[in-house]
Amino acid sequence: MPDRSRDRSRSPRRAAGATETCCALEACRDAHRWAAYECHFSKTTFKTEASQVRTRVIACHGQCRTFILCEKGQVPKSIQKAKDRKELVLAAMTVRMNPYRHYSKMWAQVLHMSAWEERQGHGSKLVSAVEELLRQEGVDVIVSYPAPTQQAESFWNKMGYRGQDPSLLPDEELIPRCRGGPLWPEQSLSGEPLERWEKRLAACAQQPREEVTRTRPGGDGRRYREFVWRPKDLRKRLASEVTMSALQLQKLMSSPVRRRMRGKQPPLVAEGSIAQVL
Ligand SMILES: CC(C)(COP(=O)(O)OP(=O)(O)OC[C@H]1O[C@@H](n2cnc3c(N)ncnc32)[C@H](O)[C@@H]1OP(=O)(O)O)[C@@H](O)C(=O)NCCC(=O)NCCS
Repeated sequence: MPDRSRDRSRSPRRAAGATETCCALEACRDAHRWAAYECHFSKTTFKTEASQVRTRVIACHGQCRTFILCEKGQVPKSIQKAKDRKELVLAAMTVRMNPYRHYSKMWAQVLHMSAWEERQGHGSKLVSAVEELLRQEGVDVIVSYPAPTQQAESFWNKMGYRGQDPSLLPDEELIPRCRGGPLWPEQSLSGEPLERWEKRLAACAQQPREEVTRTRPGGDGRRYREFVWRPKDLRKRLASEVTMSALQLQKLMSSPVRRRMRGKQPPLVAEGSIAQVL
């Protein structure tokens, strides 16, 4: 009788073709958020804005949501260990969610993106996963302001982000924060305005927003009114439900759509096609 105990071709994992060991999820516990914060804070790019990063990641201020990439089975559990960098995430991404003022969908702006160990493919895995997870919730455009470094520009370019003229966003979404609008323009450490890059995730007909949105005084010296969004305007699922398993991530990364888009303008993915991808 042959000994099959070491025959790995028979393992269910191999049978399912699961070689990916990372999973992506929305930070829904304090331990996740602290680990994400430490990941961002470990980068020189974000050192000068530590307090902003902290309120956005830990307190979710500014309509922010944070996503993390972890080694399977190594999702941070302890706040103290995350703060002491004993429990780490592989990469973290913080985005600001923006419901369209006149339409029912959302667009998102990347505020912070970092990979703990760089050039290991973790950054691109997390961005791909987040794009898909957000697309499932009705986000159709993502905006990023790449830091003025070869690394950041090359990264966002590789992920399919480009300067767009005209913008993929309607005019009312391009009003900057200082004038009471939703866009948060960014600048370099020397104060130079950074270029806005955009990527369309899905082609979809825009449904008009039915409910009237409330406003409150805000913006520069309270001269402008800010829109007040309810939590359900900023997400369609609970944070704890926004996850992508290692197998789903593997399928996403190896899908023909994803492979085709590397270094090119992204294709428009039809609604519901993730069901085939996953
Ligand atoms: C930018 C960052 C998030 C990228 O994450 P990463 O895990 O290192 O990126 P990946 O390994 O997935 O690389 C994907 C692609 O990005 C590009 N890239 C990444 N690092 C690069 C570098 N140092 N130089 C040139 N290109 C680079 C490459 O095109 C790479 O593809 P390739 O390896 O097939 O050539 C990460 O390097 C980081 O944390 N940087 C510091 C913080 C920062 O600058 N964040 C962005 C602010 S806008």
